[in-house]
Amino acid sequence: MTPTLPPFDHQPAPYTGPSKADVRGMRSAHLASAILTYYRDPVMIVEGKMQYLYDETGRRYLDGFAGIVTVSVGHCHPKVIERVHEQNSLLQHTTTIYLHPNIARFAEMIADAMPAGSGLDTCYFTNSGSEANDLACMMAKLHTGANDIIALRNAYHGMSPTAMGLTALHTWKFPVLQGVGVHHALNPDRFRGPYGYDDPDAGAKYAADVRDLIRSSTPGKVAAFIAESIQGVGGAVELPPGYLKDVYAAVHDAGGVCIADEVQTGFGRTGEHFWGFENHGVTPDIVTMAKGIGNGAPIGCVITRKEIAEPLAQRLHFNTFGGNPVSMAQGIATLEVMREMDVQKRSKEIGGFLKAGLESLKNKHDLVGDVRGMGLMLGVELVKDRSTKEPASAETSDVMEHCKDMGLLIGKGGLYGNVLRIKPPMCLTKDDCTFMCGVLDEALARAAKG
Ligand SMILES: Cc1ncc(COP(=O)(O)O)c(C=O)c1O
Repeated sequence: MTPTLPPFDHQPAPYTGPSKADVRGMRSAHLASAILTYYRDPVMIVEGKMQYLYDETGRRYLDGFAGIVTVSVGHCHPKVIERVHEQNSLLQHTTTIYLHPNIARFAEMIADAMPAGSGLDTCYFTNSGSEANDLACMMAKLHTGANDIIALRNAYHGMSPTAMGLTALHTWKFPVLQGVGVHHALNPDRFRGPYGYDDPDAGAKYAADVRDLIRSSTPGKVAAFIAESIQGVGGAVELPPGYLKDVYAAVHDAGGVCIADEVQTGFGRTGEHFWGFENHGVTPDIVTMAKGIGNGAPIGCVITRKEIAEPLAQRLHFNTFGGNPVSMAQGIATLEVMREMDVQKRSKEIGGFLKAGLESLKNKHDLVGDVRGMGLMLGVELVKDRSTKEPASAETSDVMEHCKDMGLLIGKGGLYGNVLRIKPPMCLTKDDCTFMCGVLDEALARAAKG
């Protein structure tokens, strides 16, 4: 029996815009074909309310992907909307050449959200995660006087030329000059890599590769190391315990700074801590964030220590929309709501419940090779055969199609496109999780039948 969505008290507005066919026509006529859509018959989403989305017919879907890990506290959260309306009617834009309270207040709030004693107190706002990573790399280079950067294979850090150079998934790389000075270390992937979940020294063994890479491929001095604590686009790959501690020591020994890309893992999503890096007992020198920071507003941010940000002031540096008062109002309201909702606690509790449900699907469906992640940043890797781990890429697409047909939208990732990515708005409820697991159960069974 097809699972039914939990009841929800919201009536979507009647849709009066162009038809889905017309929108598809306009898109193919005037949008670059690189701008892709999910699903054989793409869904058109015209309204959102908390963890739910509505298509043009008023059909409701559970959003298991949150606008790609971005809608942190729920679609059109009333408090966020109210603040943005207020700001929109007062002032929309001036740039940072004039004082405005919003950018100053939001910087203070982000700094306050950093671990006590970290020294991370100096922000620079951008409009996206890619821009934040670009800027972090430049700050690292200017501060250290070095040029080499270590990133991880299977990483995704964005699509700008610098961020694409950091990214190490061939599907996201174009044949253009990129990644000058970037070296990609062995990915500490305990499912597919040489050191598995059963190896208690996996963290140290993978970290040894970074020391070796510094010795063999750099002048011995590096500018930075950058990593996510759970790879998002790469398919919810969790770094092994001890790995970051060893790597951070190696990078500091080589004169570099450590950058934590918290674009997906930040703001309570991993449940145990507010920031993903805290799960590893390390303190980065630079943290980059975006996506969930603004519940859908185009905000990116770099936070670092004063002395690392300082060299940027030696010449002129500017960002027209970074720190825009409307974006900042949305960021401030989002962070306040995160605190009110205690998203970190929710992610831990609801995410734990969901992960247990996903793990029980592993016992039932041979397609499920691995269930991983923390909090509400979860992944389910599908394989054709558990012993060979041959990726079940086509089946992953099929599962997504079946989920969509049953009212659940989720994402996929990983080098082979065989990891289901589940990263819903953090207002998700246990009833939603039960629905999600029921749908996945049915979708996996249908996909296995072919
Ligand atoms: C970990 C990570 N870093 C950076 C980015 C780039 O962010 P944006 O798409 O806002 O440029 C992404 C986007 O998916 C990401 O997942």
